[in-house]
Amino acid sequence: MSNATPDADNVSFAQVKDDEHSLPEAAVGDDIQLPSRRWSFGRGTAAHFDDHVAKSVPGYHDGHALVEELSDFFVADDGRVIEVGCSTGALTSRLAHRHEAMNAEFLGVDVVDDMVKVARDRCSDQANVHIEIVDARRVDYTDACLIVMYYTLQFIPLWQRGALLERIQREMRRGGALVLFEKTRLPNGTLQDMCNQVYDAYKLARCFSAEEVLGKTRSLRGVLEPLTSAENMALLRRAGFGEPHVLYRQLAFEGILAVKPVIEAAAG
Ligand SMILES: C[S@@+](CC[C@H](N)C(=O)[O-])C[C@H]1O[C@@H](n2cnc3c(N)ncnc32)[C@H](O)[C@@H]1O
Repeated sequence: MSNATPDADNVSFAQVKDDEHSLPEAAVGDDIQLPSRRWSFGRGTAAHFDDHVAKSVPGYHDGHALVEELSDFFVADDGRVIEVGCSTGALTSRLAHRHEAMNAEFLGVDVVDDMVKVARDRCSDQANVHIEIVDARRVDYTDACLIVMYYTLQFIPLWQRGALLERIQREMRRGGALVLFEKTRLPNGTLQDMCNQVYDAYKLARCFSAEEVLGKTRSLRGVLEPLTSAENMALLRRAGFGEPHVLYRQLAFEGILAVKPVIEAAAG
């Protein structure tokens, strides 16, 4: 005979789901409101984004510092630097500031109107920066010497990532770099389980409530789809990047440097 209470025994999965949907909206912290319970970068998120992302992504600022330092090797006088999914423009602004003495163009693109407004405001006194509202899949990557996707590719539909990376590789300059930061899935269930639990503890330690941690995880279903590190590396190799290198890793968060080969691969 089971020790479960009769009530618990009698609650069907369908009922649990109904109760879930009767809640007014998902609580995810930092005053971000998600009326549809699904994560969105629009609907007022931009105003709270900087605080939220810095507390949610382990090493968020360290990663920016790393990209900035690496950029010295790739930013060229007449080249273009493109941040795809620039959100509020924090990284684009840092890169443009670092290389302001050079004659390079810094382009930040995002699909969310509110993000673009905040980014334009942040960079308003930086003459070398342009912020545009355009989808990653429509950006012209010609002449780019450095392209940064800092936790953006994970929001592109899975089946479109390979083609996007191939086009980026084809259009950008030889010897140029793609710096890709992504949340990843771990290669086995045991590691994934440990990582999830440690990541939950990380967020609880940053003053998110248990309800907000759960609400955020649930809100990202079907919105943020991580691949494993091996899958991201395979996509980059298939796109034609020579030897992608993992240069940053904390829990499931990973940064990869992928350089377009200077010499075209021999045919056949
Ligand atoms: C996690 S945020 C990026 C954070 C930002 N790179 C930073 O360093 O603060 C992901 C961003 O990608 C944008 N995004 C999602 N899909 C996109 C797409 N198809 N094209 C361009 N931007 C996209 C979102 O609007 C969001 O601002």
